[in-house]
Amino acid sequence: MTFETVYQYNFPTTIRFGAGASAELGDYLIRNGLSKPLIVTDRTVEQLDFFKKLTAGLKAKNISVEVFSDIHKNPVKSDVYKGTDVYDATHRDCIVGIGGGAALDVARAIVLRVEHREDLFKYDDLIGGDVYVTNGVPHFITIPTTAGTGSEVGRSAIIADDQTHQKKILFSPKLLAKIVFADPLLTMDLPAPVTAATGMDALTHNLEAYLAKMPHPLSEGIALQGIELIGASLETAVNQPDLESRSKMLIASLMGAVAFQKGLGVVHSLAHPLSSLLDTHHGLANAVNLPYGMRFNIAGFEHKFRRIARALDLKDETGEGVVNYLFELNTKVHIPHRLGDIGVKAEHVETLSDLAIADFAHPNNPKPVSREDFKALYLEAL
Ligand SMILES: [Fe+2]
Repeated sequence: MTFETVYQYNFPTTIRFGAGASAELGDYLIRNGLSKPLIVTDRTVEQLDFFKKLTAGLKAKNISVEVFSDIHKNPVKSDVYKGTDVYDATHRDCIVGIGGGAALDVARAIVLRVEHREDLFKYDDLIGGDVYVTNGVPHFITIPTTAGTGSEVGRSAIIADDQTHQKKILFSPKLLAKIVFADPLLTMDLPAPVTAATGMDALTHNLEAYLAKMPHPLSEGIALQGIELIGASLETAVNQPDLESRSKMLIASLMGAVAFQKGLGVVHSLAHPLSSLLDTHHGLANAVNLPYGMRFNIAGFEHKFRRIARALDLKDETGEGVVNYLFELNTKVHIPHRLGDIGVKAEHVETLSDLAIADFAHPNNPKPVSREDFKALYLEAL
């Protein structure tokens, strides 16, 4: 890194991490003078036992609970508008997001909308809309139920247009949660395929953040430790889940999201088009592309792959050793090695390559990626 440039590093969120942390929510609200939370979640989480217990516990403390769960798997603008209508109509005083990436994205977008009532996409960060985020925001709390996106510590929400499905990014440091209750007990019942796909997303965040080109020693340290934790726990978390493996995955996923303020890279740009074109699960799309994208990055960055290999405790400390490990890890968590096995066909490759080159992630990749590179990587993985 050069020492003549000024960089910005952000680590502001309070995190309560550990088994049972989510039970602290009620007392936290009371301590902060809050009594009317809008709880934003999805319909699956709303039906789970822990959620019913959590809301019953709040009501027992005389907290008025309103739940909004009418959201899409890939959230759209109308989800955000509907949730804000509920916030208004029921006179809420704070927002609690409980769930995976989708629920937390909608919760965060409602946090923005409460006091920013122009068209939601005026605030799209990709067109510089963050400068319009000038008003206050309600008190915001997050409780993750998956170990993957790390959205609980994020400051942006991805929301799509209802008609065009085009994705917009709402971004502002004001959208950070004031506190995260990261409770591994909430992830104990996640089914194996979800644990595998979200866990590989978390691994991809840590790997891409570690390699991303922005100089950021704080994030690099966090990312390497995240890689080590995932290497030590993902297979167990998928195949024989216990509190230790699920706890390590939860904290490592959160670390991945903290670290990727440094940037992501080629793998996320390969993965995003699969979700827009074929509705592929984000984590699964990353998992299948990960070994190929990492192999693309080896030349010139052998020293960084050596440190990744050490974090993973590999005998072979070369980049190829890391790539082989990633293929084997996919096998162990029952994820295929080929894009053809998750619905990609040769006829999709041109469109996928167009979408990938337009994606926001790869400009932070340690080396430039051209459209021809994307095409070659898709064909190699097909
Ligand atoms: Fe991701």
